[in-house]
Amino acid sequence: MDKFVIKGGVALHGEIATGGAKNSALPALAAALLTAETVTLRRIPQVRDIRTMQELIESIGARVEVTNDAVRVEARTIVSPEAPYELVKTMRASSLVLGPLVARAGRARVSLPGGCAIGARPVDLHLAGLEQLGARIHQVHGYIEAEAPGGLRGATIHFDRVTVTGTEDLMMAAVLARGETVIENAAREPEVLDLAELLIRMGAKIEGAGGSTIRIQGVEKLGGAEHTIIGDRIEAGTFLVAGAITGGELTVTDCVPEHLGAPIAKMRQAGITIEQTGPGELRVRGTRALRSADMTTEEYPGFPTDLQAQYMALMTQAEGIAIVKENIFENRFMHAQELARMGANIRLDGRQAIVAGPRDLSGAQVIASDLRASASLVLAALAARGETTIDRVYHIDRGYEKIEEKLAGVGAQIRRE
Ligand code: UD1
Repeated sequence: MDKFVIKGGVALHGEIATGGAKNSALPALAAALLTAETVTLRRIPQVRDIRTMQELIESIGARVEVTNDAVRVEARTIVSPEAPYELVKTMRASSLVLGPLVARAGRARVSLPGGCAIGARPVDLHLAGLEQLGARIHQVHGYIEAEAPGGLRGATIHFDRVTVTGTEDLMMAAVLARGETVIENAAREPEVLDLAELLIRMGAKIEGAGGSTIRIQGVEKLGGAEHTIIGDRIEAGTFLVAGAITGGELTVTDCVPEHLGAPIAKMRQAGITIEQTGPGELRVRGTRALRSADMTTEEYPGFPTDLQAQYMALMTQAEGIAIVKENIFENRFMHAQELARMGANIRLDGRQAIVAGPRDLSGAQVIASDLRASASLVLAALAARGETTIDRVYHIDRGYEKIEEKLAGVGAQIRRE
């Protein structure tokens, strides 16, 4: 199993580029199942979750061609409308094929995701929405079987709580349903809007994506399209913290600053200087006088849960007490124990973590428990005295493309073993 060995205490300087958004690329690949024509996707990050999704749609019947500048998907026929347990258990976003398969093939068989490191993460809202669109759903042998032999029909779906992949799944089902679908209390994440833009290029009729009510007029069929994925706001946010936590100065390029409103505001509140230096470009400068600032994760446009762990690492270096509240997932503090092994002072109290700083961190042997938790350990290691070994970095490889090369490019002493 790969490890990262990081020698901390080096301020990072220079330019670091953001890749395409993993969480946009995943539904985009699933959306390609909605048409027999070729969908060309640019800026698909080649991270492990994406390779899993590529494998999954190949097993369903799509031809996937990965070149240097694009991924081309052609799903001429749906051979096997199924997402097996082996793939779903490694990547829960596999459930994103449910909507497209029921819409295109009239049936789908998708393994139920089990529990996951950060919480229960059920798919009940996806299923309730599909039922409202007329699908019949059964659960047998750990699988969800959904059927709509006569096709789906539009309906008004009100989500009890905001769900990102749930909104995407239902949007992909509704584009081929008869009549109008209205999704209320929809997720407003930029990745939902990006997916809608791809679907519109494929011929779908969608209004209001990016807001909390989405209206979809079903069409007979969709065609091929070309689309470029947005920059990854979580990767960009991670780099902003990397510049700040090491007291360096980094220019993060190829990102969408407007997608980072909440994290930028919070980091400024903590005393960090962040300026927009060009379209798609942010410069961050660390400060010796980092102040604590409380933070609560929320749905977009609030502070993203996917940056909570990285922010907690930053707060270990801030003067005072920061209360970090996790509103989206019930068990997303596994990094706290590992950060404590490096010297952080963090107390957990249900859904909140109380971080007292600043504390000098020192290198230690730590274990990555999930994708974003591993990013926070990398950040802490960059700020720590001495050497840190991070075990199980396959978690970080799920969502960050060549992170060690990118960080080494701005001066980090990091190597993979
Ligand atoms: C997506 C992101 C993930 C991010 C999360 C929250 C992708 C591939 N993943 O995950 O990186 O952390 O949004 O921004 O885009 N829920 C239910 N029933 C459901 C669906 C969700 O109870 O049917 C609950 C979840 O357990 C969670 C909350 O709703 O507590 C939000 O989850 P959701 O937005 O669905 O997260 P994902 O789409 O899985």
